[in-house]
This record gives sequence, structure tokens and C-alpha cells, in this order.
Amino acid sequence: MDIKSVILAAGKGTRMKSNTPKVLHEIYGKTLLGYVLDSVDGISTENFVIVGHHAEDVENYISKNYPNSKAVLQSPQLGTGHAVSMVCPYLENYEGQVLILCGDTPLITKETLEKFVQYHNTENSDITVMSTIFQDPTNYGRIIRENDNTLKCIVEEKDATIEQKAAKEVNAGIYCLNWSKIKNAFSQLTSNNAQGEYYLTDIIEWGKKNNLRVNAYILEDNTEIYGINSRVNLAQATKYLTDRVLNKLMINGVTIVDPNSTWISADTEIGQDTVIYPSTYIEGKNKIGQNCKIGPCAHLRGEVIVDDNVKIGNFVEVKKAHIKSNTNVGHLSYIGDSELGEHVNIGAGTITANYDPLSKIKSKTTLENNVKIGSNTVLVAPVTVKEGANIGAGSVITKDIPSWALALTRSPLKILADWVKRKI
Ligand code: UD1
Ligand code: MG
Repeated sequence: MDIKSVILAAGKGTRMKSNTPKVLHEIYGKTLLGYVLDSVDGISTENFVIVGHHAEDVENYISKNYPNSKAVLQSPQLGTGHAVSMVCPYLENYEGQVLILCGDTPLITKETLEKFVQYHNTENSDITVMSTIFQDPTNYGRIIRENDNTLKCIVEEKDATIEQKAAKEVNAGIYCLNWSKIKNAFSQLTSNNAQGEYYLTDIIEWGKKNNLRVNAYILEDNTEIYGINSRVNLAQATKYLTDRVLNKLMINGVTIVDPNSTWISADTEIGQDTVIYPSTYIEGKNKIGQNCKIGPCAHLRGEVIVDDNVKIGNFVEVKKAHIKSNTNVGHLSYIGDSELGEHVNIGAGTITANYDPLSKIKSKTTLENNVKIGSNTVLVAPVTVKEGANIGAGSVITKDIPSWALALTRSPLKILADWVKRKI
């Protein structure tokens, strides 16, 4: 059955204390909204993102990065139920399912969403809400069940009685709906509650009144629905995500010497027997091969492809580069917008000067197989060093260098005998 997603992202995000809209804050160089949109990729055919505060920024981000997603304006913001009602005009004759998520819960995984939809289908459900257990459920909507354990309703913290507040099962804020059966609810919700808002959570009672099949799917790992409201939450979410990524890598045969000081994005693939040394930070999308050594203190900034048996040593920054097998970039270097062949050796302190600040143009450096670059070399891009050529230490290379040549731009060494003695 066709699935479309609605992502709620119109809220203000006051507690971020930021000029950037909350859902455009980043973890490892990817926005919170980006994580949510990636989690439904391959599950839903079209996404509607409800925007309000800083609507234009969010809309621009979506149209640039997610062509199958559409921003829908909600102004003013009258609650989560009102937010979802904004898509009604777009889905008038839609017969499929609608998945609803929040733009500020970036840790939800595709695997969980797949299981959630599968549960919705096998239970023959019309409305499925995702729930989870928190020992401290404060601030979440509470899941209230009947005596026979079926779902009764969801009560928001501000509307809950003391008894209801004791419930530890909470609403995760993710729903799967059979749209044609539920779409009429949105014109019938009321705002008769403590916050004066149209609550999406009221569709549970509406569904029950209208004899629909309503269920809750209990999510085991409650960190998946961890929501971001502040910078403190942002740092905690980064930590949760990092733990998840590092554990998965270690299980798959990557050595992480010190998980406490290693930061690797979820979009980084790493091959077996590669060792990641402490204080390494890897963000964005990258692919690292087998038997590599990365770090300590290496910084990979995204779009980096590293083949097998490569060494990227301490204080090396790499961005948008392909480094082929058996190549070493040992120490204190910057490699950006570059292609490095096999068996290349990069001396300490080598810089690919890829950026012209006047034209703002970035250019490419190509080092073919077996090239050796002496320490403290600047490779001024665009530039190619052909196969097997050597560059003397301390050179500034502004022209292409032919195969197997030695190139160096060094002023001759002067030795002034007894110069020091004469000064004393
Ligand atoms: C909501 C749920 C609560 C649940 C919690 C999970 C309701 C009434 N309550 O509460 O049961 O436990 O999420 O995190 O749904 N938004 C809009 N437009 C609006 C209002 C909100 O787009 O008019 C967006 C927000 O940007 C946010 C999401 O909807 O991404 C949730 O809204 P929020 O105000 O955070 O709801 P909670 O009080 O957390
Ligand atoms: Mg919230």
C-alpha cells in the first residue's frame, strides 16, 4: 500500500535560543529534519513537512535537498492536530497510509518504522500510535489503557489527573493512519483542553467512537524517540547516536580504540580490521575501506572515500577526497577536493590549497599512483602530479608535474661559516 509521510516541524523551538530554526540544527553535519526525512526514505513515496516558524529557511532547505518532500505552511500554529490537517487538501482522494513523525526526533530508525508499519498491517489497524516506556514520563502524553489492556486514549501532561500521570507508557509522537478512514477527524477536533490547542492525540478517542481499529506499538529502545528541545538535548542525542554507530562498527569488525573520544557519523561506512584511534571526528557521508589506520586526532569532513590499507595519521583533515589503497597521509596535512592514487606518500605538513578566496572557486588536486610528496609542500590547485613524480620538501607546486620527475621550488641553502661567532 502507498505510504506518505507528514513531518511536524512548525513549532518555535524557543529553548534552542537560536536564529536557526530548530529542525535545521545539525548533528554530524546533517540537519535534524534530514535525519527524519532519511528515516522514511524508501518507506514513503512523498513527504509533507509542516512548516511555520522560519518557514522560508526550512522550505529552502527541503527544496534543495529533498525533491520528493514538500513544505506546507501552518500559520498560525494551533496544535499538532491542526498541523496535520494542513495536508487534507493535498490528500483528498488518497486511499493509502499516512505516517506522522516529528521533525525534532532525529534518532528514529528506518528499521523501527518498517516494523511499526508491519505491525499496523498485521493488526489490521486503522490508527497505530507508537508508544514507549519511560521511568520518568514527565512532559510526554500518557497512554491510557482499558482494563483489558486495549488502548483508551492519550492524555497530555497538562490535562492529566494524578492517577493518569503515574502511567509510564508515553506517546512517542509517531503514528500510522489509514488516511481515508481518519481524514474526517481533522475537521471535528476541538481545542477544549489545558493548552487550548487542537491535539493530534484526540484522534485515538475519535477513532474508537467511530469504530475504527486503534492500537499502540511499544518501542523497546526509547532513545529512538529522544526529542530535541535545547542544546543540552542536542548534545545528548549526538551521544546516543554515536554510541549506536560505534557499537555497530565494532560488532562489524572495526577497532575503536577509545569509544569515549571517537565521533563517527551514521552515514560513514568502515571496513573490517580498520582501526580508529582516539580523538577522531568523522562527519558527513564517507566510505573507509579495510585495514586502514585513522587517527589519532584525524578529522574527516564528508564525501571522503578511502580504499583499503590506507593510513590517515594525526592532525590530518580530509574533505571531499578519494584516497586509493596503500597510500599514507601520516601527519599534519590537509587534503581537500583531491584524488590520491595508490602507493602515494604524503609528507608531514602537506597542504592541498584548494580554495581561491577571491573567486570563491574550489579546485582539484590529483596525485597519480606512486607519487611522493616531500614534507611541508603546498599543492596549489588545480594541479596534477603525474605517476611516480617526487616533490622536494618545502615546495610550492603551481604547475602540473610530469611522470617520474623531481620537482622542487627551494631557494639554495646558504652556509655562512662562523657567522654566529662573529656576532658574539
Ligand atoms: C506531543 C504529543 C505528546 C507526545 C509528544 C512526543 C500532542 C498534543 N502531544 O507533545 O502526546 O508525548 O509530542 O514528543 O500531540 N507542531 C507543529 N504545529 C503546531 C504544534 C506543534 O508543527 O501547531 C510540531 C512541533 O514543531 C513538534 C511537534 O509538532 O515538532 C510536537 O509538538 P510539541 O509542541 O513538541 O508537542 P509536545 O507537547 O511535545
Ligand atoms: Mg515536543
